[in-house]
Amino acid sequence: MTPRRSPVPLLLWLLVFSSGGVTEAIEPISTSIAVGMAAALTGFLASYQNMFCYFHECCRPEWIYFNRTGLQADLEAKLFGQHIASRIILKSVTGFMGNDNPKKPLVLSLHGWTGTGKNFVSQMIADNIYKEGMKSSFVHMFTAELHFPHLSQIETYKAQLQQWIKGNVTNCAQSMFVFDEMDNMHPGLIDSIKPYLEYYESLDGVSYRKAIFIFLSNAGGESITQTALDFWKAGRDREELELRDLETAISLTVFNNKNSGLWHTSLIDKNLVDFFVPFLPLEYRHVAQCAMAEMKAKNLLADPAVADQVASEINYFPKTERIFSVKGCKTIASKLDYFYT
Ligand SMILES: *[C@@H]1O[C@H](CO)[C@@H](O)[C@H](O)[C@H]1NC(C)=O
Repeated sequence: MTPRRSPVPLLLWLLVFSSGGVTEAIEPISTSIAVGMAAALTGFLASYQNMFCYFHECCRPEWIYFNRTGLQADLEAKLFGQHIASRIILKSVTGFMGNDNPKKPLVLSLHGWTGTGKNFVSQMIADNIYKEGMKSSFVHMFTAELHFPHLSQIETYKAQLQQWIKGNVTNCAQSMFVFDEMDNMHPGLIDSIKPYLEYYESLDGVSYRKAIFIFLSNAGGESITQTALDFWKAGRDREELELRDLETAISLTVFNNKNSGLWHTSLIDKNLVDFFVPFLPLEYRHVAQCAMAEMKAKNLLADPAVADQVASEINYFPKTERIFSVKGCKTIASKLDYFYT
């Protein structure tokens, strides 16, 4: 029985042959030299890879490491009016990233009115885990309209999405998947990714336990707003609102709402979502804060008078009280552009 030659020794022989003067040394080449050369070659390959990963994003700690201080600073400096969401996000992400052996992937479901910071928070999480932030090849964003537009092709989408998740997690266990506009997502699609959110050790040899899944939706936004409004009417401080005041509000609407109920119900039933994160509707002062932050981000002199002007030009609801911004902070950037041109 002749053992199959592995490609590495073969390569070594070729190297020795081609290096001229050593030809006569081929016969007595000792195992120790071969081992030494193999080690050198391995070392070369490793340093080549190190070099490669120095310039090019790799699934390695140089490119993926959690910066808790950074996340906290971002949440404090750039997210306004979301004391509950801010707390849950920092705690849950810190807990998950600090655990070397999580039992399941981290699954967050972000709820609230449009423009209240759900997308923004996903971006902050990405920025403080991946060196490349949202541009990282390990961060994936899915939108119903963009990625799964045709109802008739739902079966294809399901298979494709499963393949994407599997392929990407195989490439890098610490992958992050953000599903925007969950309300428009076909329930079948959500069903198809449910297995990946579970407690399984592995599925077909792939472990999903280090991945992060974030769902964004407006579901529950109305009841969150109602709760915030009741608080306001009772003359209570917004910061007194606690998660438990909103938790039932979220799950009740979610269960009762035919459009978004389906996916939620099945995720809640199986306890696959680790945290439901409510985003409160934004008030005038928060909009003004957004404007200030936006001016700073654009390297403009942050002028409170301009912020006030911008905040006073947008629409608020309900009609009589006019407390909450209809579009949150969503149009602030473009309003400012208009202001400065
Ligand atoms: C990873 O996900 C993207 C979509 O974000 C997809 O285009 C790509 O094919 C996936 N990669 C693998 C290896 O499946």
